[in-house]
Amino acid sequence: MTIANTPESGAPASDDIVEVTTGDPAVSAEPAATLVGTGGEWWRSAVIYQIYPRSFSDSDGDGIGDLPGITRRLPALGELGIDAIWLSPFMTSPQHDAGYDVADYCDVDPLFGTLADFDALLATAHGLGIRVIVDLVPNHTSWDHAWFREALAAAPGSAERARYLFRDGKGPNGDLPPNNWQSVFGGPAWERTTNPDGTPGQWYLHLFDRSQPDLDWENPWVRAQFEDILRFWLDRGVDGFRVDVAHGMVKAHGLPDYTPPADAGSMGGGVVGLEPEIDANAALDPPTPPYWAQEGVHEIFRAWHSVLSEYEGDRVLCAEAWVEPLTKLALWVRPDEMQQAFNFTYLSAGWDAAELRLVIDRSIAAFATVGAPSTWVLSNHDVVRHASRLALTAENPQGHGIGPDSPGLPDPVVGLRRARAASALMLALPGSAYVYQGEELGLPEVIDLPDEARQDPTWFRTNHERYGRDGCRVPIPWEPGEATYGFGPAGSAASWLPQPRDWDGYARASQEDDPESTLSLYKLALALRSSQALGTGELAWLPGYGDDVLAFTNGGVTVIANLGGTPVELPVGDLLLASEPLSEAALPADTTVWIRTAA
Ligand code: NOJ
Repeated sequence: MTIANTPESGAPASDDIVEVTTGDPAVSAEPAATLVGTGGEWWRSAVIYQIYPRSFSDSDGDGIGDLPGITRRLPALGELGIDAIWLSPFMTSPQHDAGYDVADYCDVDPLFGTLADFDALLATAHGLGIRVIVDLVPNHTSWDHAWFREALAAAPGSAERARYLFRDGKGPNGDLPPNNWQSVFGGPAWERTTNPDGTPGQWYLHLFDRSQPDLDWENPWVRAQFEDILRFWLDRGVDGFRVDVAHGMVKAHGLPDYTPPADAGSMGGGVVGLEPEIDANAALDPPTPPYWAQEGVHEIFRAWHSVLSEYEGDRVLCAEAWVEPLTKLALWVRPDEMQQAFNFTYLSAGWDAAELRLVIDRSIAAFATVGAPSTWVLSNHDVVRHASRLALTAENPQGHGIGPDSPGLPDPVVGLRRARAASALMLALPGSAYVYQGEELGLPEVIDLPDEARQDPTWFRTNHERYGRDGCRVPIPWEPGEATYGFGPAGSAASWLPQPRDWDGYARASQEDDPESTLSLYKLALALRSSQALGTGELAWLPGYGDDVLAFTNGGVTVIANLGGTPVELPVGDLLLASEPLSEAALPADTTVWIRTAA
């Protein structure tokens, strides 16, 4: 479809789409049997797809997804056009926080399969040219981990207790917690133990659920254990690690009291400040909590960087670090530390052109100072899905979630339209992008989960005040008309979180042959992103557009996103992609286009 000055009708015709993508070698999967030794610094521009194992595909019909289920469905991800998958934890765990409470870092929980199933998954992924990143949870273990059980059984002051942060309580009988820190999931961050004789004992720190005791990363023994754990997975052939709570592992000496500002999100991130003057170098430096972003974490990541460097290939560390400002987050990706850090400032930005432009500029500038690519992300298993979040009309701090009684619930039509426009914008940006399973189907947050189905510890620790994160974790639909939409085999148990009854249209199979579906939009965007080398390109803003419009070039592609109500005149050129069907040559509200304009 060529945009001239005459109105056109409909979305880009599929013939036009094929013209862009067919026969382009960059679109086909790498045929390599193993990826070790190929693709230097692939992570700089990669699209990395997050799989939440319990909600992706269930092979054995128990209602919970598993590793063989993932392996079976990998070809669908190959067709989508992603470069790598990140698997949320599948290691041995009592599942009090959906696997982010690990009881054995070097084994697979029977819920998800076996180590042999993992090896098969890895081999299949590599055969499809897909790299595999696993989740590492070093801030805390499960209370079922042998290290913690031994610590509980040992005396105060013992080497076993020194693995964790045990402290005596305050007050005459030690009845008060050692400090005023609150758990991310609500309630105090300390739990009191009971001595073998039944008397109350010491307290231990848990920044998350009480089933997740924090390790003491000042202890060299802890550091040595984790270097072995890294090697265990690197030896099996993984391409890298997503590092959970990479901003929290080291705490300030003396564990001083701290009261966070009211607008701090659950994971510690605040809200990006929109300043009247757009200055990419402005330092918005909020006070540093004594449990986040301590200087000492960097030494750990430098050591891990060295471990990864011992291995062939191009292995990566990606920080889950809720740190602001971006100039501070960039410290996580200095050349001798991690390769990537999630850009939660971008995820936290509203559907607002000025705010997004500010964050994009700041991100690119901040990461460039350390030679790292920016990353981009809109959804994951901890936040309200962006097909709902972008249409919320009330503040919703990260981690609080939404439910039937939340204020400002989204209009689903507006939400999906904005989500498609936002995804088309994100996938045109230079750097690496993260896609959360189901967003390529346009899935919304599930708002009306029955209370009795909710499982997020946040829901329980806040006495049902915060709904938590279950609404973005509902198992994804594959085929319409099946009991679990093909998530599990025929006749399988209900999925661990109930799926809405009206998801037929979201199912992958329903969207495959529809050129206007969200799945087709993602496939086209990923193919073009690859063939046009957008991930390694450079962004240049285009002058002359209104305040509600984001317009830039990335290589030979012009990207225009209209976030306002006034239609925007489009430049002459070949329309490569439109997030909504265009009925005229002007760009309507909440729509993004990619156009190849004449040089
Ligand atoms: C961040 C993870 O993404 C989240 O799901 C988990 O609850 C916390 N870290 C604690 O591990």
